[in-house]
Amino acid sequence: MRSHYCGQTTTKELDQEIQLVGWVHRRRDHGGVIFIDLRDREGLVQVVISPSRPEVFKLAESLRNEFVVQVKGRVRRRPEGTVNPDLATGEVEVDCVELIILNRSAPLPFPIDEYHDVGEETRLHYRYLDLRRPEMLSRMTFRASITRYLRRFLDDQGFIDIETPFLTKATPEGARDYLVPSRTKPGSFFALPQSPQQFKQLLMMAGMDKYYQIVRCFRDEDLRADRQPEFTQLDIETSFLSEIEIQQLMEEMIRGLFKTLLNVSLPNPFPRLSYAEAMSRYGSDKPDLRIALELVDIADLLKEVEFKVFSGPANDPHGRVAALCVPGGAGISRKEIDDYTQYVSIFGAKGLAYIKYNADGLQSPILKFIPETVVKSIIERTQAKVGDIIFFGADKSAIVNDALGALRLRVGQDRGLVTEGWRPLWVVDFPMFETGEGRLAACHHPFTAPQIKDLSELIQDPTQVLARAYDMVLNGSEIGGGSIRINSSEIQMAVFRLLGISEEAAQEKFGHLLTALTFGCPPHGGIAFGLDRLAMLMTGSTSIRDVIAFPKTQTATCPLTDAPSPVETAQLIELGIRITKKSEEK
Ligand code: AMO
Ligand code: AMP
Repeated sequence: MRSHYCGQTTTKELDQEIQLVGWVHRRRDHGGVIFIDLRDREGLVQVVISPSRPEVFKLAESLRNEFVVQVKGRVRRRPEGTVNPDLATGEVEVDCVELIILNRSAPLPFPIDEYHDVGEETRLHYRYLDLRRPEMLSRMTFRASITRYLRRFLDDQGFIDIETPFLTKATPEGARDYLVPSRTKPGSFFALPQSPQQFKQLLMMAGMDKYYQIVRCFRDEDLRADRQPEFTQLDIETSFLSEIEIQQLMEEMIRGLFKTLLNVSLPNPFPRLSYAEAMSRYGSDKPDLRIALELVDIADLLKEVEFKVFSGPANDPHGRVAALCVPGGAGISRKEIDDYTQYVSIFGAKGLAYIKYNADGLQSPILKFIPETVVKSIIERTQAKVGDIIFFGADKSAIVNDALGALRLRVGQDRGLVTEGWRPLWVVDFPMFETGEGRLAACHHPFTAPQIKDLSELIQDPTQVLARAYDMVLNGSEIGGGSIRINSSEIQMAVFRLLGISEEAAQEKFGHLLTALTFGCPPHGGIAFGLDRLAMLMTGSTSIRDVIAFPKTQTATCPLTDAPSPVETAQLIELGIRITKKSEEK
């Protein structure tokens, strides 16, 4: 039906008779001449319909936005003064000889030919229209170029692309599972994988050596701007490589990706931070290094002060007292400080003490509680100068880290302290376990190898043991995470036990893996990248939903198909499932 794409019609085609198909992006009537911006995947071209062809002209008068048409015509130069330098096809226009309407369009729920702030629910309901907008199209195309690059890189490095099941058994990555009821085994359920973690390890045990897959993962968890219930990983596993070798290879891949697609040179090598240092300096295990602000520990200065808000956490082994100095922040208003105080309370902070370093002296509600010498030491340690403000966090370490870590980002953004560019890094030496509610939980996942020489170290004090895990972080986003895995069933079982999983439960849940570990399992390790997050960062999008063709809303629903939705009773009976009144009310 077509000889050229609209968006690729240029002066090369001058004087040629061409055939285009596409959507009427916009129709303009100008003094007896009709102009149509005809749009296809590749862009727009101007079609001109002159009244000297009355039949074509009459048909053109009936065109409305988003009608699908076929145009035959001759390419000519646009008259002088009407060239559009913003358009790839801006030097030419197509003098229409023949016009066929291939299909009509109902009036649109929102305009596509100009930028309109349309509610996201509406955009997702009519996603196929939303995707017609050039910015969405270019994001989809860009995403495809990311996967193309990554596949090519890994293929060239000898990785094998292998598919793993979706209908499977639960594999823990810290979220809830999506379950699928089985018809053939009533009362039993498949779980959709939170990641292919166990399968990729089994592939290493099968001798595949290097595996990758661009794969959907399913996690029923609280959603945010950078999280979806189903999302895509670039999943990778290798045998016989050390963590350093894996990291080098992955850096090379990401550096190549940024160079090829964005012409950006990322550092070689990426800087590395231990988890402990990241928490201490940035209050986060995914620090945004574009912001120069850092947290400074001051507990040692405050152990003796009478102000209990500070001395309490300063003397608590699980407490932290930290300061965040913001250069030029003394001008921050009372109202802004109130807003920040409100903001940090989301993270559990009970207040937000501050000292302003004004030209005429210090100003703060807490000066009266702290001896002058201590204040002087705080100023020295934070290197505060006239015109600065120092914020304080004092509480359990986790609260101070979350609160001041988030404040650091917020103040950085508010005050224009985020520098341009790309700041990748590795965060390494994570602890093996997190302690919450008196129980140990895996910091990464329970298959990650500990940094130990022998098993006794793990048993003696598991909270002190570090993991052979690593995260790749870019501009404050965790874009990938991986580890060297446990390759001994003894250590694997010890880790399960520490996580409160009994021998029996471990056999029931992970028996296949524990058995496989006994048949000559190679040392192995890998990583998974969040492809959506990577695409979001590289396209400068603010939401992960903007780089996914058919995403879910914040409440994990799909406004386009109205999923999830009730099913026929007969289907439920077949599956042996009864919906209780209680769950219906929910
Ligand atoms: P992890 O759980 O860290 O590791 O996931 C890897 C990467 O996937 C991305 N990601 C998400 N993206 C969008 N929406 C979500 N809900 C979501 N959850 C995670 C992040 C993250 O860095 N099996 C391990 C990998 C391994 O050890 O090899 C795993 O899944 O960018
Ligand atoms: P208060 O004695 O509660 O009036 O607090 C005095 C100052 O300390 C106020 O500016 C509070 O915002 C601040 N503050 C209270 N609790 C904390 C905390 N846990 N961390 C940091 N600042 C706090």
